[in-house]
Amino acid sequence: MKITPVLLAAGQGTRMKSDVPKVLHPLCGKPMLWHVLQALKFATTETPVVIVGHGAQEVKNYLGDTAECVLQEPQLGTAHAAMQAEPILRDKTDLVLVTYADMPLLRGKTFQRLVETQRLNSGPFSLLTVIADDPRGFGRIVRKADGTVEAIVEEYVATPEQREIKELNVGAYCFKAEWLWDALHRIEKNPKKGEYYLTDIVELAVKEDLPVQAVVHDDFIETIGINTRVHLSEAEAAMRTRINREHMLNGVSMMDPASTYIDAGVKIGQDTTLMPNTYLHGNTEIGEGNVIGPNTIIRDSRIGNRCKVLVSVLEGALLEDDVDMGPFARLRKGAHLKSHVHMGNFGEVKDSTLHEGVKMGHFSYIGNATIGARTNIGAGTITANYDGEKKSPTEIGEDVFIGSDTMLVAPLKLGDGARTGAGAVVTKNVADDTLVVGMPARAIRKLERKSKDK
Ligand code: UD1
Ligand code: CA
Repeated sequence: MKITPVLLAAGQGTRMKSDVPKVLHPLCGKPMLWHVLQALKFATTETPVVIVGHGAQEVKNYLGDTAECVLQEPQLGTAHAAMQAEPILRDKTDLVLVTYADMPLLRGKTFQRLVETQRLNSGPFSLLTVIADDPRGFGRIVRKADGTVEAIVEEYVATPEQREIKELNVGAYCFKAEWLWDALHRIEKNPKKGEYYLTDIVELAVKEDLPVQAVVHDDFIETIGINTRVHLSEAEAAMRTRINREHMLNGVSMMDPASTYIDAGVKIGQDTTLMPNTYLHGNTEIGEGNVIGPNTIIRDSRIGNRCKVLVSVLEGALLEDDVDMGPFARLRKGAHLKSHVHMGNFGEVKDSTLHEGVKMGHFSYIGNATIGARTNIGAGTITANYDGEKKSPTEIGEDVFIGSDTMLVAPLKLGDGARTGAGAVVTKNVADDTLVVGMPARAIRKLERKSKDK
């Protein structure tokens, strides 16, 4: 049986007061739309049809080839939106799973339940409802004396008695395709709002004496719909709780989940501990047995195992195993710290590789550089990699000792076992095992290297 999702995402989202299309507003680092598409995948793997309108180009650009987009222009309501899928889907699918793109917390298994219910339903469709005390402006589910669904009444037309109804329309429906397309054409324009309401489809089925099934949900949180930024923040908090809980159940410790902010899609290995006020963003992967935070922001980075990252900011960085960094360290794009690197306070690394066991204790800037294994970077060392026009590389060998406050004026190479005196300004390449001092530094003597094994 072929089940195709149709996602309604053309509305303006006026109440968001934003230039960004509503469905692209992020929730735990990913657009609302992403969350809905992710959940729909549990119910069916067919390519979804997304109805776009306001901000259509932006939404299309975001979706790429992950969905088939259809333009709804002008936007004449949810029934009119669903109708736009007909030319693509008529005679191509058995069931159509219609949902709204502003319901990002709905879970995959909820969509699954809805589909399962419709598979067994002899009638034309099933819909999802929720029992909640706070109606949040949702349509009310009116039932007949025998308990079957009779209508969905939108709040602004509901009578005072209907407003008291606690069963609400969530906005997810599973239709028999052949019935849906014709029914949509029979929905009449709402006289007050001049729109075609998908919710009116219930009355069409009832008139024909066809049974409408309702899947009654009890998780109010899952059905938070986003119409304003207040709803968005509520949904963000709910999604964060869900994400954190999943990581904890998978073996990640959090001292204070309420102040731990993890984007959807971030991976974290077992026995890693996240300290309070830690942010893990974007495409980030963290291995096992690490201690991250407190007060740490990590974006688009990969961290191996058993690392310690304390009060630091990382972006586009790669840490191998047993790295120890912070407090107050900053890694920028292309920073690669190999195993057993130690990076202390107030250091910055960009586009550079620090090989095994490099020590960089205090106050340094390393850019466009390669630092050989076991090299020690003294306090206040700077790679002067930018001459105002172009960036130049610095290559430092193994077992080098850079004295405090050394300026390394790139392009520059320092051989294995080289040494610089405190305050040296190095403008010329330094041979292996050579000590340079002064400003600009000149060679003064040849050295005996202690560890020459590598
Ligand atoms: C809708 C339901 C309501 C339900 C609530 C749950 C209708 C008439 N009402 O109200 O019963 O309780 O959702 O969240 O369906 N859209 C289009 N094209 C349009 C109009 C809307 O694509 O012409 C899209 C919007 O982008 C949005 C979704 O449909 O994603 C729902 O529209 P919205 O205006 O948010 O409906 P609600 O007032 O929330
Ligand atoms: Ca809505």
